[in-house]
Amino acid sequence: MTTSSQSTDRKVNVAVVGLGFMGVVHLKAYQANPAARIVAVCDAVRLPVNGVLQGVAGNVKKIEDIHLGTQVRAYKQLEDVLADPEVELIDLCTPTPLHPEQAKAALKAGKKVFCEKPLARTSVAAQEIVEVEKASPGFLMPAMCMRFWPGWSWLKQVVDEQRYGKIVAARFRRMSEMPGWSKQGTYKGGNDLGGALFDLHIHDVDFVQFLFGRPASVYATGVTSAGGSIDHVVAQYNYPGGPAVYAEGSWLLMKGFNMSYTVHCERATIDYDLSRGAEALQLTEQGKEPEVIKCDASDGYSHEIEYVLNCVLNNRAPIVVTALDGLSALQICEAEEKSVQTGQVVSIR
Ligand SMILES: NC(=O)c1ccc[n+]([C@@H]2O[C@H](COP(=O)([O-])OP(=O)(O)OC[C@H]3O[C@@H](n4cnc5c(N)ncnc54)[C@H](O)[C@@H]3O)[C@@H](O)[C@H]2O)c1
Repeated sequence: MTTSSQSTDRKVNVAVVGLGFMGVVHLKAYQANPAARIVAVCDAVRLPVNGVLQGVAGNVKKIEDIHLGTQVRAYKQLEDVLADPEVELIDLCTPTPLHPEQAKAALKAGKKVFCEKPLARTSVAAQEIVEVEKASPGFLMPAMCMRFWPGWSWLKQVVDEQRYGKIVAARFRRMSEMPGWSKQGTYKGGNDLGGALFDLHIHDVDFVQFLFGRPASVYATGVTSAGGSIDHVVAQYNYPGGPAVYAEGSWLLMKGFNMSYTVHCERATIDYDLSRGAEALQLTEQGKEPEVIKCDASDGYSHEIEYVLNCVLNNRAPIVVTALDGLSALQICEAEEKSVQTGQVVSIR
C-alpha cells in the first residue's frame, strides 16, 4: 500500500513532536526510510543530549537510544516547530488531549500533519480538526497503524477481493497490561486519555470499519475503572445482512501485550495471533490442511510512515486513512461507551 515517489533524491523534512514511546518508534522508522530527513524534534521534557535521545520501553517493543546527531534542531514548544520554515511534515506523538490544539495549529501554519491515534479524546474535538483540515493547504493523516500492519493489510485485500468468498463472521482481540503513563504523570488515573476503549481498542474499531464500513449499531459491555475510563470492552457490531462481528479490548492483562483476529469466510478460516511470531498468520481453506502465510517481519509503523512520506512527496492527500476515518472511529467508540453505560444497543448515524 504505497504510492510511488516522484524522485528518489527528494526527501521530506520531518519534525517529530512528543518524544515518548511513540515518538521514538516513529523516529526509528524515519531514520530507516531514505525519503525522510529528520530536521527537528520537540518535547516539553525529554530532549536529545549531545544528539542522542534516550530509548524507551513500550507495549509492542523496547526501543534503544536514538542517535539523531547535533544538527537536528531540538525545540521545547510546538510554536517553534511551526515557525521553522524547513519543516514540511509534523508528526504528533504527544498525549491524546493535546492532539486537537496542536493538529489545528500545525494545519493553520500550512504544515502536513501525521497525528497519533486517537485523533482526539472526543468526536467533537476531532470534528473541529476535520473542519480546519478542509480549509488548510495541507492534510492530516491519523496514525491508524493496523491498516498498514503485515497480516492485517493482507486481510483487507482478501476481504475486498472476496478471495475465499464472503465474510461470515469476524472477531478481533487486543489485550495489554495497563501502560505506565496511565498510572503516573499529568493524565494519571482519570478518563482524559479514554482508557483501553479509546486508546487501545480503537485500533480494532478502526479496522472493523476499514473492512466492513460503519456498523448500523453497537452493543457493548465493559469494566469501568474508578477514574471513569472503560478499561475492558467487548463490542458487537451490527451489520444487517452482513457478517457477525465482535471485538474485545482490554488493559486488564496482568503482563504483556497481544493482538489477534479470526475471520471466517465462506471457504476458509483466517487466524492471526501475534504471539505465534513468524507463524502469526494462518489460513485454513476448506478441505485443506492449515498453512502459515508469511508476513514481512516489519511493523505497521514503518509502512504507515512510508505511506505518509509518499503522500507528501507526491503532494497528494492520504486515501488509505483520512481525518474523517479518525473521526468516525471515535464516533463508534463513543457509541460503545454509551452502550456500556446504558446497557442499550446504540445506533450509529
Ligand atoms: N499507534 C500505536 O500503536 C500507539 C501506541 C502507543 C501510544 N500511541 C499514542 O501515541 C500518543 C503518545 O503516546 P506515548 O505512549 O508515546 O506517550 P508518552 O507519554 O510516552 O510520550 C508523550 C511525550 O509527549 C511529551 N509532551 C507532553 N506535552 C508536550 C507538549 N506540550 N509539547 C511537546 N511534547 C509534549 C511528553 O514529555 C512525552 O515525552 C498517544 O496519543 C497514544 O494514544 C499509539
